[in-house]
Amino acid sequence: MSTRITCLISGNGSNLQALIDNLHNSSTSGVEIVRVISNAKNAYGLQRAQKAGIPTHYFNLINNGYKKAKETDQDKIERARESYDADLASLVIQDSPHLVVCAGWMHILAPTFLDPLKAQGIPVINLHPALPGMYDGINAIGRAYTDFTNGTLQDNKTGIMIHYVISEVDRGTPITTRDIIIKQGETLEQLTARVHENEHELIVEGTKKAILELP
Ligand code: GRF
Repeated sequence: MSTRITCLISGNGSNLQALIDNLHNSSTSGVEIVRVISNAKNAYGLQRAQKAGIPTHYFNLINNGYKKAKETDQDKIERARESYDADLASLVIQDSPHLVVCAGWMHILAPTFLDPLKAQGIPVINLHPALPGMYDGINAIGRAYTDFTNGTLQDNKTGIMIHYVISEVDRGTPITTRDIIIKQGETLEQLTARVHENEHELIVEGTKKAILELP
C-alpha cells in the first residue's frame, strides 16, 4: 500500500516539484501525492501538479466567501479563518491521506484545521527556511541576512527545517534541520537561491523521515 500525501502550497511550487520528482514519480518510494491544494489561484505549483497528473484544488479564504477582501473587524476575521480552516480539514480528510506536507503554504493553520487532522492520526509537516526557534514567520531569510550584515548573527549561521506543525507558528518539533553558513560577500539573492536549493533536498529527506515516523 502506498503512503498517501496531501500537499498544501501557495506559490511557485519548486518544493512540491522536488516531492513529485523524488517521491511521487519514483517507482520505489511507495509515495503517492493524492492532491495538491493551493490558497492562491495562480500558484504555478498547481500547473506542476496537473502536469504530473495529480488532482488539484484551489481553496481560498476570500474567493470562497469566508472573509470580505477589505474586512477590518478582527472578530469576523478570526471567525472566518476558523471556519475556513475547519472546511480545509474536511477537504483534506476526504482524500484519506497519511500525511500532509506544507510546501510553501503561506497561511497559518488554526486548531480548527489541526485538531481534526490530529483526531484522524494525520500528521502535518512544514518547511521553514530558518533553524528551530529562530526567525519564525515570514521573511526568515531576509531577517537572517540583515542580522548577518549587522554582525549579530551568531557564527553567521542560519538554516532550514522540516517540522511538525502546531498552532504556534514554526514552533513544532523539528524532524530534520540543515545549517546554512552565510558567506562573506554573499548577496541576499545568492543566499536565497542557495537556501532554496537546499530546501529541495531537505523537504524530500524530511518527508521520508516523517513517513517512517507515521503512527
Ligand atoms: C520556500 O522558500 C519556503 O521556505 C517558503 O516559501 C518558499 C516556497 O517556495 N516558506 P516554492 O513555492 O516551493 O517554490
